[in-house]
Amino acid sequence: MENLEKKAQNVLVQNWKDGFSIPCAKLYPFQWKWDSGFIAIGFAHFDMDKAEKEIETLLNAQWSNGFIPHIVFHTESDTYFPGPDFHRADLHPNASKEYKSTGMTQPPVTGFVLEEMYKISKDKKRSLAFIESVIDKVYDNHSYFYRERDPKNEGLVYIYHNWESGTDNSPLWDDIWATMNPPVYTFERRDIKHVDPAERPTQREYDHYLHIIDIAKKHNYNDAKIAELSPFLVQDPLFNSMLIKSNESLINLYKLIDSSSEKIKQLEAWQEKSIANFNAKLFDEELGAYIHYDLRNEVPLKHLSSSSFAPIYANIPDKERTAILVKNMLEVFGKEEHYLCASFDPRSNRFNPKKYWRGPVWINLNWILIKGLQQYGYHDVAERIKKDSLEIVEKNGFYEYFNPIKKVHLEENAGYGGNDFSWTAALTIDLLND
Ligand code: GLC
Repeated sequence: MENLEKKAQNVLVQNWKDGFSIPCAKLYPFQWKWDSGFIAIGFAHFDMDKAEKEIETLLNAQWSNGFIPHIVFHTESDTYFPGPDFHRADLHPNASKEYKSTGMTQPPVTGFVLEEMYKISKDKKRSLAFIESVIDKVYDNHSYFYRERDPKNEGLVYIYHNWESGTDNSPLWDDIWATMNPPVYTFERRDIKHVDPAERPTQREYDHYLHIIDIAKKHNYNDAKIAELSPFLVQDPLFNSMLIKSNESLINLYKLIDSSSEKIKQLEAWQEKSIANFNAKLFDEELGAYIHYDLRNEVPLKHLSSSSFAPIYANIPDKERTAILVKNMLEVFGKEEHYLCASFDPRSNRFNPKKYWRGPVWINLNWILIKGLQQYGYHDVAERIKKDSLEIVEKNGFYEYFNPIKKVHLEENAGYGGNDFSWTAALTIDLLND
């Protein structure tokens, strides 16, 4: 395992580009918001300078309204589509003047990442000084979400694009695509030059992705207009769990820095409302799990995915509900023949064990589940997911995602998408030091 850790460190060092990290060469040649967070956790174990710089660079690209974009285009690259010229984030009056970016965001992990970095740090004084220098920016990001992304004042924020979810190609979104009929776009895909097309979204799926962006662009990425007009408007349990977990971390960190801060009161108020409505609205009794809600069409999206269990990490369910969740996870996703945890319900006809978010195991979701289960005292299940995670990485390499079917791992390489993928390496380091 020492060797695995060293290899993981090498991946991170290789993907470090003078101030920030790319998730993966060629396939993802820029800085991504939630990748950055997981990467910083990995670096914190052996190079705190880089961990801090990673976060600082991301936050430098924040807009004046608190928004943090999902991709920051630090450099030119012709290996990725759609680039800055398609996204045109500069249409928004508050966009960064210095950095090119997209006009959409990603799960708000930065708050809890700061707390993780603090826990890992051997020099608490230094870490606290760093946190003090950036924490208000993260707070402003949360403030943006509650101000602009919660039209019904429920404490539950929406995402307006599948790329905001982080689980980009999940079968969940098929329900939304069925309500849309976008034009056919002519463009050159770059992703399928680097990865087997069978592991990536279809051309038609890309039409949906681009169409939503076009609608947002037409209104200069105005949040109110997006809330009114975007055909994709979803309350996502993973996204909201990341926000709620980060609220909790910000409260803990503000208490260390300045326990009298007004911001603590505001964060506590957000927490109370968010957690109550999350439990009231996003838990499906029939499925025994948390689900997504389609705010545009006012219908729940009744599917099980690994996101259904993410609220455990954010301390959202009570003990009884957690027991139901864990039982379900083990029954549906934890069969003898499967590695935990497939990204989508293996019983569904939409399940695909090889395709991008339609079934494969992702190490970041596993990490979220492991940490959550540990908090609630489910140490055996957490251990099992950890063991599964390390085994598939050790066997295949630091891939982007992995086949959940164990048998396939005996026959062939079962890692897919990009190789030498940063968050897989980063979180492997963290799990090895757990
Ligand atoms: C893919 C993933 C997304 C990730 C990005 C960069 O698009 O779906 O979650 O942030 O790659 O790694």
